[in-house]
Amino acid sequence: MKITIRLIVSLIFVVALVAVIFSFQQVRAEKTRLIGELERRAIVLAESIGESVKPLVESNSLDKLNRLVERFGNRERLEGVAIYDSQGNVLASTPNLALKISKPLPQIISSITENRPIHSFLNIAGNGKEISLYILPLPRTSEGEVQGLPQEEGVMGALALFHDASYIDVRLKGIWKNNLIRFLTLTMLIVVITLLVVRWSITGPIAKFSEWMRELRLGKGKSSQPDTSLRGDMLAPLISEVTHLAKSLSMARARAEEEARLRVQAESLWTANRLKEHMRVELGGKKLFLVSNREPYMHVKDGRNIKCIVPAGGLVTALDPVMRICDGVWIANGSGDADKEVVDANDKLRVPPEEPAYTLKRIWLTKEEENGYYYGFSNEGIWPLCHITHTRPVFRLDDWLHYQKVNEKFTEALLKEIADEESPLVLIQDYHLALLPLLVKEKRPDVKVALFWHIPWPNPEAYGICPWQQEILIGMLGADIIGFHTQFHCNNFLDTIDRFLESKIDWEQFSVERGGHATMIRPFPISVAFEASVSDRKAVIQEKESLREQLFKEIGVQARYLGVGVDRIDYTKGIPERFRAIERFLEKYPEFVGEFTFVELGAPSRTHIKKYRDLMTEVEEMVDKINWRFRTKTWRPIVFLKAHHSHEEVNHFYKASDICMVTSLHDGMNLVAKEFVASREDEDGVLLLSQFTGASRELKDAVIVNPYDIEQMADAIHLSLAMKPDERSERVKRMRAAIKEHNIYRWAGNLITELARLRTTDVAS
Ligand code: G6P
Repeated sequence: MKITIRLIVSLIFVVALVAVIFSFQQVRAEKTRLIGELERRAIVLAESIGESVKPLVESNSLDKLNRLVERFGNRERLEGVAIYDSQGNVLASTPNLALKISKPLPQIISSITENRPIHSFLNIAGNGKEISLYILPLPRTSEGEVQGLPQEEGVMGALALFHDASYIDVRLKGIWKNNLIRFLTLTMLIVVITLLVVRWSITGPIAKFSEWMRELRLGKGKSSQPDTSLRGDMLAPLISEVTHLAKSLSMARARAEEEARLRVQAESLWTANRLKEHMRVELGGKKLFLVSNREPYMHVKDGRNIKCIVPAGGLVTALDPVMRICDGVWIANGSGDADKEVVDANDKLRVPPEEPAYTLKRIWLTKEEENGYYYGFSNEGIWPLCHITHTRPVFRLDDWLHYQKVNEKFTEALLKEIADEESPLVLIQDYHLALLPLLVKEKRPDVKVALFWHIPWPNPEAYGICPWQQEILIGMLGADIIGFHTQFHCNNFLDTIDRFLESKIDWEQFSVERGGHATMIRPFPISVAFEASVSDRKAVIQEKESLREQLFKEIGVQARYLGVGVDRIDYTKGIPERFRAIERFLEKYPEFVGEFTFVELGAPSRTHIKKYRDLMTEVEEMVDKINWRFRTKTWRPIVFLKAHHSHEEVNHFYKASDICMVTSLHDGMNLVAKEFVASREDEDGVLLLSQFTGASRELKDAVIVNPYDIEQMADAIHLSLAMKPDERSERVKRMRAAIKEHNIYRWAGNLITELARLRTTDVAS
């Protein structure tokens, strides 16, 4: 209210000031005009009377003068006429004046002596009535002047006209009065309008707004956006800021709830057995269906033999243990050159080959489909789109058409598999199959679909360059649950939906409703299969020592320290940056030359894409250059093992190394980091971990690095190698505890439970 009063008082003050100044000017102008008019009238009258009066004064005809004066005396507003002699004595006057001007008036004397007309105001009756006095000196006739009489002697008297001037005052007071009324009316209007405007535009909206904020604070708010009536108002910028704040609040609240939930759940650890039992209850005998592009087991020709390999990548690492427990069918693209040779008539086989636990159903793609869908749209389009690593996505119509077609192909295969299942659970994996959720739901609304996105989700600005941005989002929203690794990616996804799709977002529930179908957006940080605890640490350490010896022998290097990196050769992994940091480390800390060797287990990946081929060349050249610069007869700084490595081989390096470097420029999670920690039964080893990985949110005890900061990474290598055993051990223990608690069994348990307990809703395309 105070502000309203202040506003009203200031407005009234300004209006009053303006009114006074203008009234004053108006009054002054009117006064000047009225006086001038009165004077002009007096002059005209005086001159016309003067001509008749002169001869009568000269001849001293007092009777005639009196008659003349009386004749003129009753004109409008003329109070009276008087005629004086040269001494200022009254010769004749209208009767009403006779008494009032008995004394000689000083103005008359001045006019006669100075021989000039005078106009002045006086109050002869003493009653406050203003009288205008106009005096016209009466000069003698020409005879007198000719005789050369002095000036004063040339004036024989004066004619005085007395006009009533009180009307001027009345008029001026009238102006003041009118202006006062105008001012008061204006003041009233100002008060009323100000009160209304303040109420409509300020206090009203603020009241609504604060009510909305109060509800939000108390967690009762239905919406994270205020009433639409508020949005276009003057509060709009504030509202937009607070809306962002509200979103963050909802997100923080959701995170806190999630953490609390996880804490409660953490009270009992998830193990393979627990997941198995849990699935038995949740699935109630139903099968689980998993769909991904990449298959968990790939058959390739090895001379005349066929060997089975496990493709590199987090997806397979994470999901194979889950499928082993849950059984079910994993549908994937059969991309090995011997894949067709080992499947049955339905393109199926039981895997893992050594201990069959679930069914792998292979889908065959033509070369064109593989080019357009896998290499083109998935890996030259969506992959760089979602990873912010300054690699430009390429979008081609032809690739998009293939992408759609292959998604349909996967849909057909899945529909066939689930034809006899009632409300089956389907877990769709990753960016290759973004359209699958909707395609499946359109045909089978009873299916419960989760889509897990293994890679980051960018901000709406970055995503906005995709020409098929809406189609992809609509396809994804066919799912009942969409999972990302981190809350941050969930937020980005919801922001993207908010920007590009007509839909209802519930920031409290983190869900999107479109055409009557709701999709929950949730973080499910993926992990590795880790549950074991170490019984004999001594034996483990001994085993590690002999492994180190063996590995150094295998790579033909003699060194004191061993570092390891395990990656698909992909530009998101920050491999050149890592090598640059190693080079800088050796420059800065030359005492490690001949002492530290880094082994890169690099699996060639997506090699039909030029960017990947170029990267491979760059990496090889860098290794060559750095090795050439520092190598000795028995030592080299980097050993680049360019090949596909088995889990066992990779594990040996994890176990034997002093440090593991994960330097991704952007990574959804990165399971190498978790695998390294999980493998360290000796509770030793240091993990250098990029701050741009999802894993860095969980593994706080890693040495966190910015892969773009070579200097910092070089120092981090030094810090890690120089770290005291106790600290190394403490850090690894804490990280192992975190992974043990948040292992892949918990991930699967949570995701599948949420999905199984959902009530499915129809989708609208
Ligand atoms: C990432 C993706 C996975 C993919 C893996 C290997 O982890 O999220 O979907 O399987 O890379 O890539 P590739 O192209 O060989 O399947």
